[in-house]
Amino acid sequence: MEAQEIQLQELKVEAFIDEQVKAISEAVGDGLAVNALSGGVDSSVVTLLGHRALGDRLKTYFIENGLMREGEPQYVVDVFDALGVKVEIVDAQDQFFGALKGVTDPEEKRDKGITQVFYKDVFGKLVKDCGAKVLLQGTNYTDVEETVAGVKRQHNILAQLGIDTVQEYGYTVLEPIIQLRKPAVRVVGEALGLPEEIFTRPPFPGPALAARVIGEVTLERVALVRAATTIVEAELCDSGAFQYLAILHEDKVTGLRDGKRDFGYQIEVRCWESTDAVTGTPTDLPFAVLRGLADRIIAEVPGVVSVTYNIAPKPPSCIEAV
Ligand code: XMP
Repeated sequence: MEAQEIQLQELKVEAFIDEQVKAISEAVGDGLAVNALSGGVDSSVVTLLGHRALGDRLKTYFIENGLMREGEPQYVVDVFDALGVKVEIVDAQDQFFGALKGVTDPEEKRDKGITQVFYKDVFGKLVKDCGAKVLLQGTNYTDVEETVAGVKRQHNILAQLGIDTVQEYGYTVLEPIIQLRKPAVRVVGEALGLPEEIFTRPPFPGPALAARVIGEVTLERVALVRAATTIVEAELCDSGAFQYLAILHEDKVTGLRDGKRDFGYQIEVRCWESTDAVTGTPTDLPFAVLRGLADRIIAEVPGVVSVTYNIAPKPPSCIEAV
C-alpha cells in the first residue's frame, strides 16, 4: 500500500503516537523486534515509539559503520541511556569498508556499499541471532518520494523498489514515520520526550559520510571529511540553517604551503535553507564566516589547500554530493 503524506498542519501528535504504538504492538505480537539507531531524529523517534510499544522486546543497535560523526557512537548510547533505553554498539566497520572498496559510482555506493551490508549482512545476522522477525526503521516521506521519482536511491528504501525483505533478508520491515516529513517528525520527537538537541538535530544521511566523499570511500578519506564536518557543524550550528556539511572532492589541486608546491585536497562546504529537503537554497552566510571556516579547515584538516562554498540551489544541486 502506498503511504499517504500527513502534512504538519493536519498532524494530531498524540493520536499519531497512539496509532503507531498500537500498529507496532500488533505487528510484533509477543515476539521480538530490532532497530538501528543512528542518533538522527528519524531513527530516534522510531526507537522511542518502538520502546513504548514493546519495552525490552525491542533490541536497539547502533551500527558502527566507521562513517559517522566524531564521537557519535558513545554520544548516542549516553543520550538514550538517560532516556532509559539500552543501545548496543555493533562494530561493522570492516564489513562496510570492505564493500565500499574500489566503488566510485554514487548509486553503487548506496546499494552495494551501504544497503546490502546494512540489511543483508549486518541485520540479517543480528535478527537471526536474536530470533526477531521485525525490523523497525525511520524511513520518512521525502526518502520515498526522492527514490520513487528516481532522484536518488535512498539507502533505506526497499519495498518501494520491489524488494521483498522477508525473502531477501529474513525479516519484515515496519516504517512508523513513513507518512511524515522532517518538520512533523521533529514535532513527534518533542512530544515523545526526546531531548531538544536530538529533535532539532540537522539531518544526517543514512549512508553517513560515504555520501560526502566523492570517489572512493577509504578510512583515510573519511577521516578527512569527518574532521571537516566537525568544524563546519561547530561553526554553523548557530546559523539557523536547515543543514550544513562538508564534502571531500575527488580531484586534488595545486596549492602552496611553506613556500613549496602542495598538491592537496579540496573541501566543499554546503549550508542549506530548506523546510523539508525537497528544495533548498544556499544560506547567505557572511563572508567573514566563510573565511573563518576556510581558515579552520586549512589549519586543522591535514593536506587541504582549497575550500569552496556551494552557491547553487536544489534543484539542480542536491543537499548531499553523492
Ligand atoms: P539530497 O542529497 O537528496 O538529500 O538532496 C535530501 C535529504 O535526505 C538526506 N539524504 C539521505 N537520507 N538516506 C537517508 O536516510 C540517504 O541515502 C540519503 N541521501 C540524502 C540528506 O542529508 C538531506 O537531508
